[in-house]
Amino acid sequence: MKTVLVTGAGGFIGHHLVNYLVGRGYWVRAVDLKYPQFQESRAHEFIRCDLRLHDACQSVTQGMEEVYHLAADMGGIGFISGSHAEITLNNTLISAHMAKAARDSKVGRFLFSSSACIYPTNLQTSPDVTPLREDMAWPALPEEGYGLEKIYMEKLCQYMTEDWNIPTRVVRFHNVYGPLGTYEGGREKAPAAICRKVALCPDGGEIEVWGDGLQTRSFMYIDDCVEGLFRLMQSDYGAPLNLGTDEMISINDLVEIAAEIAGKQVAKRYDRSKPQGVRGRNSDNALIRQVLHWEPRTSIREGLVPTYRWIEAELARPRESARESGVLHAAE
Ligand code: NAD
Ligand code: GDD
Repeated sequence: MKTVLVTGAGGFIGHHLVNYLVGRGYWVRAVDLKYPQFQESRAHEFIRCDLRLHDACQSVTQGMEEVYHLAADMGGIGFISGSHAEITLNNTLISAHMAKAARDSKVGRFLFSSSACIYPTNLQTSPDVTPLREDMAWPALPEEGYGLEKIYMEKLCQYMTEDWNIPTRVVRFHNVYGPLGTYEGGREKAPAAICRKVALCPDGGEIEVWGDGLQTRSFMYIDDCVEGLFRLMQSDYGAPLNLGTDEMISINDLVEIAAEIAGKQVAKRYDRSKPQGVRGRNSDNALIRQVLHWEPRTSIREGLVPTYRWIEAELARPRESARESGVLHAAE
């Protein structure tokens, strides 16, 4: 069995990825500060440790053929714009130590999860933004803190291949959503936050929307995200690649779709003092189609149905459930 390490396996994408890889017959070591919050991990081994530490990274990479490096101090725009110093420092420590450990442990392949946040903010100032192509990343003007570490690490991956001969893969995620994702507490992104607000809103009531609702994004369903990660890892493509849909919608449209799924009339109250990030963002998928002969296809209307239903059910669970008491325990 091929051995695979997934860092950030207690988080949203990492947890889904572990399940997918185990299902495909891989031997999976999962690593995170915490266990998955909502469901037990299927990993063969789950190690809880702090990847900001050099020795932890050295230890967990031993014997691993492929590494999916997803661990990061991460959240939606409210979270990543809140503490630039803490996020930049944490993610720099994690990624730099993981890169060195990948070399020292002689891993076969190293995949880094980058972000659409690396794209120049001055190219994303209008809701009808030109879709972002991979070659638009430089000259760089990434989102403060979080985006800066991501673009730095993209370059380090390139150097790892050039200087150390380690095959690397770099994926630029565009806003990922789905069941088992964070939906409260401050790290949640717009799809989960809007689903939560709509679920808690009485029919005919009102929810708070950050900004004026005209800002645009494309949103990728988690099943597409995991499949894209796997396909990229298996490919021979080493340069950064977008992984997202090119179905751009406004936040107002997102609210309408969630309300439709809920079967409710929901009015919007705009709060322009809340964090908004870039004005418009969309993925250009020409390169992924060419490289992988595949692209994420789940529409936001399709993907938001299971997402909304899951959040609605979570909110209806008794508060003293696993959600409140911390975590569900995996292989301990
Ligand atoms: P997540 O927050 O659910 O998962 C990240 C995990 O990393 C968490 O479980 C966290 O505990 C873990 N982690 C943080 N610091 C750690 C440390 N010091 N040691 C060990 N583990 C640590 O986020 P996610 O949505 O699953 O994102 C996964 C990756 O994808 C991240 O690198 C993120 O930056 C990137 N990404 C995600 C999106 C998205 O829309 N979800 C978009 C762009 C990029
Ligand atoms: N989070 C959130 N919560 N956003 C809201 C809300 C709300 O209740 N209401 C409206 N929004 C708006 C935000 O103001 C922003 O303009 C837009 O919805 C999208 O917000 P997020 O989903 O939080 O973040 P993002 O798209 O700006 O950035 C996210 O995606 C990147 C990759 O595409 C972040 O998760 C980044 O960390 C990630 O790299």
